[in-house]
Amino acid sequence: MTQRRRILVSSALYYANGPLHLGHILEAIQTDIWVRFQKLRGHECYYVCADDTHGTPIMLKAQSEGVTPEQLIARVNVEHRQDLADMLIGLDNFGSTHSAENKSICDRMYLALCEAGYIDRRSVRQAYDEKAKMFLPDRYVKGICPVCGTADQYGDSCENCGSTYTPADLKDPISVVTGTAPVWRESEHYFFKLSAFEKPLSTWVRSGATQESVARKLDEWFTQGLRDWDISRDAPYFGFEIPDAPGKYFYVWFDAPIGYLASFTQLCNRVGLKFEDFLAVDSSAEMHHFIGKDILYFHTLFWPAVLQGAGMRRPTAVHAHGFVTINGQKMSKSRGTFITARRYLESFSPEYLRYYFAAKLSSGIDDIDMNLEEFSTRLNSDIVGKLVNIASRCAGFITKNAASTLSKELPDPALYATFAAAGDGIAAAYESLDTAGAIRDIMALADRANQYIDLHKPWTLAKNPDNAAQVRDVCTQGLNLFRALMIYLQPVLPDMAVRARRFFQESNWDWASAATPLLGSVIHPYEPLATRLDPKAVARLVQPEAVAAPAGSLAAAAPASTAAAPPKRIAASGGASDAASLAAAAAVEGNMISIDDFLRVDLRVAKVLNASLVEGADKLLKLRLDVGELGERDVFAGMRAAYEPAALLGRLIVVVANLEPRKMRFGVSEGMMLAAGPGGKDIFVLSPDAGAAPGMRIK
Ligand code: 2FM
Ligand code: ZN
Repeated sequence: MTQRRRILVSSALYYANGPLHLGHILEAIQTDIWVRFQKLRGHECYYVCADDTHGTPIMLKAQSEGVTPEQLIARVNVEHRQDLADMLIGLDNFGSTHSAENKSICDRMYLALCEAGYIDRRSVRQAYDEKAKMFLPDRYVKGICPVCGTADQYGDSCENCGSTYTPADLKDPISVVTGTAPVWRESEHYFFKLSAFEKPLSTWVRSGATQESVARKLDEWFTQGLRDWDISRDAPYFGFEIPDAPGKYFYVWFDAPIGYLASFTQLCNRVGLKFEDFLAVDSSAEMHHFIGKDILYFHTLFWPAVLQGAGMRRPTAVHAHGFVTINGQKMSKSRGTFITARRYLESFSPEYLRYYFAAKLSSGIDDIDMNLEEFSTRLNSDIVGKLVNIASRCAGFITKNAASTLSKELPDPALYATFAAAGDGIAAAYESLDTAGAIRDIMALADRANQYIDLHKPWTLAKNPDNAAQVRDVCTQGLNLFRALMIYLQPVLPDMAVRARRFFQESNWDWASAATPLLGSVIHPYEPLATRLDPKAVARLVQPEAVAAPAGSLAAAAPASTAAAPPKRIAASGGASDAASLAAAAAVEGNMISIDDFLRVDLRVAKVLNASLVEGADKLLKLRLDVGELGERDVFAGMRAAYEPAALLGRLIVVVANLEPRKMRFGVSEGMMLAAGPGGKDIFVLSPDAGAAPGMRIK
């Protein structure tokens, strides 16, 4: 046997502020298949992951939910663990970056970097929100693009013209957190000297640590020159304080990859492994990271350099994959194609998704399209029509006509030998992450197994009792071919493989088990291993969820004529504050609010008295509203693309009447109007309804 490898594997850590979706699951499945394959081959392989818990978005999300960050990340951790377990992801440890182990490794590595002279301190000028009393990350500042003049652009880049810049370049910047104009403040930051690692990094890349296409991308980055990396953030920040630097915290991306090592440390402590065996600079163990192509810079430049600078080994390989698209398009919440792991699991077996992704994944970084029609067709054809069909056509004859006992010899050993010999090629495909190739080979063998059964027709033979021995032989052959395929598929279909193994009454399968047929032994009665997928049920995966609304609330206020239309999300439009619309979006994404929270929102019918364009803001309209007993007021709403001002005159709309007035650049917005739709051109207000009157409370 080849040498037993020691392999540490990770997939990218999950931000602890939201649910896992099919993009996360694609990566977990790719990683898990590779790990299960290594284990099946007899290697010592460990798979670790964790939640990525630090940083501004998580801090603000907790604030908006009225909980501590610790409470938020604890809740999300439970959900993530459950999703991963239900997807049959065989993690050896799932941790959190907010752990004692992570703090201690972060400190240790940081001090080693300081000692070696790789940390610099420099003053940095940054946007500061005086109301929220915090420095603002680039994406928390919005304003007018300095290059093309488009309003409402993030502080790092323009969605319209693609220019990149710093928040200081924006015209009329505002803080996304409070809507106020930021000021500029100096603060001391800690930098990791990435530029010192240019040479060793390019050697590392050439060692085959990355895919070809990634190596080319890296060459571009090397050509541009590596800039030193700011690894600190100022308080308030949810993270780890930097040793001997009060009020300074490690930037989330510094402690996140260290989270791999922290999760591994927990595993070491639990099962008695030696951390150093895997992480020492001269370690003969392998370390593999599976990631999405969007976080290559962190994993192929920062991370190997940080490891090296701190005196540790570098990754053996970083394996990047593409994004998941649904029916050819980017996953999108508004289109209803943002499919969470939980939503999928509510209706379907994890193994169907594992198989489908496996059949599409290869070692490249192209996006992986989940076409829902193809999903059910493929599953029904490959798993039900081909694979399971082999067993279901043979098993009954062994149970009923052969006392559940397999023949002592195969009638066609040469055919079996072909299946056994195919193992090497299939293994090579798994090893190189070409699972699509492995599945192709396995399904070609499944076709051959079915041809064998079609040719010998045990159901016809069985009509004559004189053929009993032949029936048993043919079915023993068929079942053994099936068994070999299930062994090869075990990394992809772990649960089905266990059920198949139990059917054969075997206690264990490793890769080599497929080399030898199972003969003369007793098998269990066959139980169906997979059922057909209903394409209609699959299609429902992408329907936008109806907005959960108790009877008599906003959704019920929609006129009857719209009732048959597909459910639309209710979009908060107005106040033009991102924080507010994010919170509103979060509410429909499944963060439940209590009935008390809901009752605090004063929803009223309002009549549009006047609507006008807002100079300098090409997404906004200014509305003058009559809110009945509450009087008149102005609301700014981001619906310029959807309505001409005149079209709104006299219309009845719904407003949140008790929202704190918000000072914007163009004036004060005294409420928020509600409308349905994903945004842009697709925003819909209610039709005029003679029964409703301004000021009417919506209950
Ligand atoms: O991009 C992300 O989702 C990050 N949470 C990945 C972190 S991977 C590692 F570096 F921790
Ligand atoms: Zn621009």
